Amino acid sequence: MASLYHRARVMTCTGSDADPLGLIANGAVLTDGGHIVWVGDAVDAAAACRALDVLPGERVDLGGRLLTPGLIDCHTHAIFAGDRAAEFALRARGASYLEIAAAGGGIAATLAPTRAAADATLERLTIDRLLAARATGTTTMEVKSGYDLTVAGELRLLRVIAHAGARAPLAVVPTLLCHVVPPERRSDRAAYVRELVEVLVPTVAADRLATSVDVYCDDGAFTRDETAAILGAARNAGLGVRAHVGQFSDHGAAELCAELGALSVDHLEQVSPAAIAALAAAGTVAVMLPGACVQLRLPPPPVAALRAAGVPLAVASDLNPGSSYASSLPVQMWLATTHFSMSVEEAWLGVTRIAARALGLVDRGLLVPGARADLVVWNAEHPAEIPYRYGSNLVDRVVTA
Ligand code: NIG
Ligand code: FE
Repeated sequence: MASLYHRARVMTCTGSDADPLGLIANGAVLTDGGHIVWVGDAVDAAAACRALDVLPGERVDLGGRLLTPGLIDCHTHAIFAGDRAAEFALRARGASYLEIAAAGGGIAATLAPTRAAADATLERLTIDRLLAARATGTTTMEVKSGYDLTVAGELRLLRVIAHAGARAPLAVVPTLLCHVVPPERRSDRAAYVRELVEVLVPTVAADRLATSVDVYCDDGAFTRDETAAILGAARNAGLGVRAHVGQFSDHGAAELCAELGALSVDHLEQVSPAAIAALAAAGTVAVMLPGACVQLRLPPPPVAALRAAGVPLAVASDLNPGSSYASSLPVQMWLATTHFSMSVEEAWLGVTRIAARALGLVDRGLLVPGARADLVVWNAEHPAEIPYRYGSNLVDRVVTA
């Protein structure tokens, strides 16, 4: 059925420098068959329907409310069992994330409950998180594996992510995450990395279980050389390349990712000026994760330098049980605009058009004919209201293709 949304403040996200969000004050959007077929001024809507020969089955008067693309969360770890509330309490008393991880907590502490959980349990947990995200405006969510870390277990997580995505009313983009070397393989880590390169990555590509591979390159995780081997295998297999880079220390992975033509590098609290230039030249997206940064009390990434160099900036939730157990992108937009000094426009583009780019997607994150009909209506008129009123859920309704 075709739908006409009219009398809306339409944020197309197709703007220019003067008007980055591409706002139409009294706008309308026409959708048909899960896609947008027309966007423009509301006064031209009737003529557009006639010209396109589309008879809208419903006409929705939005009374001047803000209508935006559905939000895209391009970095989550939404499949896991158990929680780490005790670690949160330890950090609140001054312990650091790396100290807790070195003492056997951190990512390793989520492995046992995740490995022990049945497929149906993991699917339910994931769907519940997807639904919670949709309620705050997310219509596409990337979900990384990474809390099993055996070859068979990671393949299982990716299959469960696909099942959860097929059952939830939003789009799911699965990513293979090579997170850390699991404790039981630390004595033969070279053989473990070989398994990832020779078995896991090619199987994921052959079975089409993910569109990208992400590697966590940092203190306590993979080294730069290991990251190069895994991401090289991913690229050879035709998969997109992404990495968790410089959350704690700069291991040179941002330069590596730029060389490999990576879709994104994520975190970037620690990154050199040379790496920033390389990312800009490669067109790699920098994914800002302010929730994790604030919660771990890290210094913010060099947003001004990234902006000045022209590196595209996305904003994501990093939803995970350790550093950021939250799925609301409006909350992340608040942190991005306050703690990271991003503009309201940058925050909006970071959870729409630039987030799509970090996932290698061109059919969403903006309102143009041909894009998916993923829309959010907000109980707000001004784009700034969403981060400004971060404690209220201003979503009026969510439409997914
Ligand atoms: O993006 N840094 C690595 N991965 C997650 C944390 C995962 C965890 O602590 O369970 C992150 O912050
Ligand atoms: Fe992460």
